[in-house]
Amino acid sequence: MEHIRNFCIIAHIDHGKSTLADRLLQQTNTISERELQAQTLDDMDLERERGITIKSHAIQMDYEQDGKKYTLNLIDTPGHVDFSYEVSRSIAACEGALLIVDAAQGIQAQTISNLYLALEHDLEIIPVLNKIDLPSANPEEVKDQIVDLIGCDRDDILIASGKTGFGVDTILEAIVARVPHPVGDPNAPLQALIFDSVFDSYRGINAFFKVVNGEIKKGDKVKFVNTGRTYDADEIGTLRLKHQPKSVVKTGDVGYIISGIKVAKEVKVGDTITTVNNPCEKAIQGFEDVKPMVFAGIYPVDTDEYEELRDAMEKLQLNDASLTFEPESSAALGFGFRCGFLGMLHMEIIQERLEREFNMTVITTVPNVSYHAYLVREPETKILINNPSDLPEATILERVEEPFIKAQIITKSDFVGAVMNLCIDKRGELKNQVYLTPERVELTFEIPLAEIVFDFYDKLKTISKGYASFDYHPMGYRESKLVKMDLLLNGDQVDALSALIHKDKAFDLGKRICLKLRELLPRQQFDIAIQAAIGAKIIARETVKALRKDVTAKCYGGDISRKRKLLEKQKAGKKRMRQIGNVEVPQNAFMAVLKLD
Ligand code: GTP
Repeated sequence: MEHIRNFCIIAHIDHGKSTLADRLLQQTNTISERELQAQTLDDMDLERERGITIKSHAIQMDYEQDGKKYTLNLIDTPGHVDFSYEVSRSIAACEGALLIVDAAQGIQAQTISNLYLALEHDLEIIPVLNKIDLPSANPEEVKDQIVDLIGCDRDDILIASGKTGFGVDTILEAIVARVPHPVGDPNAPLQALIFDSVFDSYRGINAFFKVVNGEIKKGDKVKFVNTGRTYDADEIGTLRLKHQPKSVVKTGDVGYIISGIKVAKEVKVGDTITTVNNPCEKAIQGFEDVKPMVFAGIYPVDTDEYEELRDAMEKLQLNDASLTFEPESSAALGFGFRCGFLGMLHMEIIQERLEREFNMTVITTVPNVSYHAYLVREPETKILINNPSDLPEATILERVEEPFIKAQIITKSDFVGAVMNLCIDKRGELKNQVYLTPERVELTFEIPLAEIVFDFYDKLKTISKGYASFDYHPMGYRESKLVKMDLLLNGDQVDALSALIHKDKAFDLGKRICLKLRELLPRQQFDIAIQAAIGAKIIARETVKALRKDVTAKCYGGDISRKRKLLEKQKAGKKRMRQIGNVEVPQNAFMAVLKLD
C-alpha cells in the first residue's frame, strides 16, 4: 500500500486537465509517443470533438523515484457541471488532487467548487499553475489567488505547461512526496467503491473501483451492496491503456471488474462491492442515485420510426445509466418518449448520438425541470410533473413547487452590475457577495433551476465578455406562482409547446414567444394564427402571413430537371419538421421559448 498513490486532477473546464494528463502518461512511459493521440483519455469521438472529458476514466502508471517503485493511479474527472456527481465519486477514490489553474484565466467557479469537493474528502491538494507558456499568463497574480483560496505557501504552488511539458517532472515528484498512500485494512472483508463504469459491446459493463478494505480475487462471488445483486468476478485487473487482467487487486489499488453485466443501470456509481462469502457490514458512505434535472420529449420526425427510436434509446441507456425515458404521447407529435437528462449538455449529447450512431431524425421538445404539484384534496396529494402538459387544472391545484439551486458566480468587478441584473431577471435572490481580490467577486444567488438550465450560461458569458464562471448545487423545492401557458396554431393547442412560467412574467413571455414563433414558422399557402393562452384566456397573438409565390414559378419553361431539383431541395428541408394540424413546425420552433433574445 505504501507504494500506491491515488490522485485526480481537478480544474475548471479548459484549464488543461486532459493535456496535462497526457504528459504524465508520456513521462512515465505509460504510453509511447506513437500511441499518444491528442488527449488520449478522451476516447469517445464526441468527447474529442467537444474537448470535454465526458466520462471519468482511470489509468495506472509506474514511476520510480530514488530507487523506489511507485504505482500512480490517475483518475480523470469530467469538468462540466452536468457531470458533477461523477467528479465527486472520482474524488472519493483518491487521497490527493492536482488542482490545475490556468495561469492566464485564474481561479474560476469550478476551480472552487471542485476544490471544496476535494477538501470535503480530505484530499491533499497540490496546486499547479498551468499554461505558464502563454504570453498572457499572469503567474504572480494567479499565485496570490491560489494562496488566498487554499491558504497554502506560495512555494507549494507548482508551475507547469501541459503544452511544452515544462514542470511535469516536478509534478510527479510532488505526487509521491505529498499525496498520502491509501490506508485500509487488508484483512477486513472486501469493500470496494465503484466510481465509474463503461459499456463494452462485447464484454458488457466494466465497473471501475477502488479497494478500500480487503482484496478482490478473480472468480470471487461478489455482491453490489446498494443494488443487492450478486455476480461472479469473471475478470478483474488494473487499468493501463488497455486492461491488465490480474488474479487479485489489493487494498488501496484501483481496478476494473467484468462480470457479465449487460445493463448500465445495474451498476451504480457510488455503490460498494463486497464478497458474498465474507460480506462487509455496511456500504461505503456517500451513495446517491443520480437524478435527472432536465426533461424533454423526444419524438421521431417520421411517426413510423417510433419502434426504432425505442430500440435506439434502449441501446443508449445500456451505456448511459443517467439517461431515463418513458413512453409518452402528444396530441401534436404522436408517440415518443419523455426523457430525463443530467443537464442541457447531456441532452444535446443524447440527441447527437441518436442522430450519429442510430441515424434517427428526432424532434426534441422544450426542456423543462421537474415540478411538484399539490392537489386540493384531503389528505394532501403530491404529484410529480415532468411534462408541463400534465399539470392539473387550476381548479384542483393547490400549489406548485419548483426546484431551486444555489449558484456561485465568479466575475470581474466591472461586470457585477450586469450579472446581478441577469440573475434578478431570472428570479434570483442575491445571498452573498465576496471580493476575492479587488478585481474579482464571488456572488452567491438562489435561483429557480428552470431559469438557469437553458441559456443562462451563454447569457452570463456574453454579458461578462467571457469573464464569469458559474457553478451550481440543487437546494430543494420551493413554492412558486407558476402557470401553464399553452400555444395555439390556427386554433389548435400544441401540447408540445406548453410551458410552466412565472405568473408575473406571463404576459411579457407570451408576447415574446408569439413573436419568436412568427419568425420561425415558415410561411405557407394560408395565414397561420399564433396564440398564447393561460387557461381559456388568450394573452397574445401574432400572424404568419400566407405565402403568395409558388417556389417553382421562377423556373419558367420546361426545364423539368431543375424543377425537380428545387422540389427535392424543399423535401430535404423538411427534415426535422412536423406537420401539426395543417401547419408545418420546424425543430427550432419547439425551442422558441428558450431563445427569446
Ligand atoms: P475539459 O476536459 O473540457 O475540462 O478540458 P481540460 O481541462 O481537459 O482542457 P484541455 O486539456 O482539453 O485543454 C484545453 C485547451 O487548452 C486546449 O486547446 C489545449 O490545447 C490548451 N492547453 C492545455 N494545456 C496548455 C498549456 O500548457 N499551454 C497552452 N498554451 N495551452 C494549453
